[in-house]
Amino acid sequence: MKPRSMIIGTGHYVPSRILTNADLEKIVDTSNDWIVERTGIHERHIKADDENTSDMCIKAGERALQQSGLTAKDLDMIIIGTVTGDMRFPATAIFVQSGLGAVNAAALDISAACSGFLYGLVLADGLIASGKYRYILVIGSESLTNMTNWEDRNTCVLFGDGAGAAVVTASDGTRGIISSYLGADGTLAKLLWAPGGGTANPISHEMIDKKLHLLHMAGKEVFLHAVKAMCDAALKALSLAEMSPDDIDLLIPHQANIRIIEATGKRLGIPKEKVYVNIDRFGNTSSASVPIAIDEARRNGILKPGMTCLTVVFGGGFTWASVVIKF
Ligand code: UT7
Repeated sequence: MKPRSMIIGTGHYVPSRILTNADLEKIVDTSNDWIVERTGIHERHIKADDENTSDMCIKAGERALQQSGLTAKDLDMIIIGTVTGDMRFPATAIFVQSGLGAVNAAALDISAACSGFLYGLVLADGLIASGKYRYILVIGSESLTNMTNWEDRNTCVLFGDGAGAAVVTASDGTRGIISSYLGADGTLAKLLWAPGGGTANPISHEMIDKKLHLLHMAGKEVFLHAVKAMCDAALKALSLAEMSPDDIDLLIPHQANIRIIEATGKRLGIPKEKVYVNIDRFGNTSSASVPIAIDEARRNGILKPGMTCLTVVFGGGFTWASVVIKF
């Protein structure tokens, strides 16, 4: 299959404040040993009180633009995957558009939880294929610590904040997105959601007392679905690319849990050395996880030009996505 669009610049940003496992031991009944053994996380970055999701997007976007050699005025579309935007409306992408000075760009958000960045990348691929859009900035950014229940040890140890960005344009024919696959299963939504604050449970004192505006997760069930859906999605994208796992130089999986990452790599038959891991330093940054990993891998030389990369994600909804890209 011929690539339709390619990534010409990437960037990421994480807040400077670091929350370690030792810090968490003082907040809830947990231990560094439990967190490291069960999740692989050592520390995560937490946004400052006056820092918005759009602020993180702007910093990651500026870095991606700088690497692409473009200016914000060259962009004709900004797509942001987030479920923790600045406001209920307008879209966070609107504030990123004005913050970057992307005066020629349309702007919209996608709500697909952890899959938000890859959903956005696949949408950008299609818009570029239509011939109507030339340069699209896709960002995944999340301030999940803003909807974390800091009294719930089952979830509060898992998440971190950050943003990752990619500038996408038409392929030069040799590099780019070779195939992609998106999936969803709304029947399982309640296993991972924040049910308060919308029309189903409008804002009220009672809703807040019940903590419905915060994230709720049935961890074990989510874990099992995540491994299965990520493997299935990866195999579907590989099959559409007429490739096998042996053709992959680097697997960049969603960084939700080291055991999910290892199980996914193992089931796909991709050796550990070819699996990118940074969950130890960032925790689960939801939609920012994949673009942060892509940018970090590019900047530290692990993801080199010419490599074929398989990236796969799973998140609330449930949603899942996989993309095969030649860099
Ligand atoms: O981003 C995409 C969506 N999210 C995910 O993919 C996350 C998927 N789920 C997971 O990563 C794991 O299920 C967790 C890390 C959330 C939990 O790990 P687990 O091995 O599935 O633990 P568990 O929920 O089965 O709990 C085992 C025990 C329980 O104690 P009891 O009932 O056996 O006495 C928990 O209360 O571990 C306890 N526990 C903790 N202990 C210390 C749960 N959280 C903690 C904690 N510290 N932070």
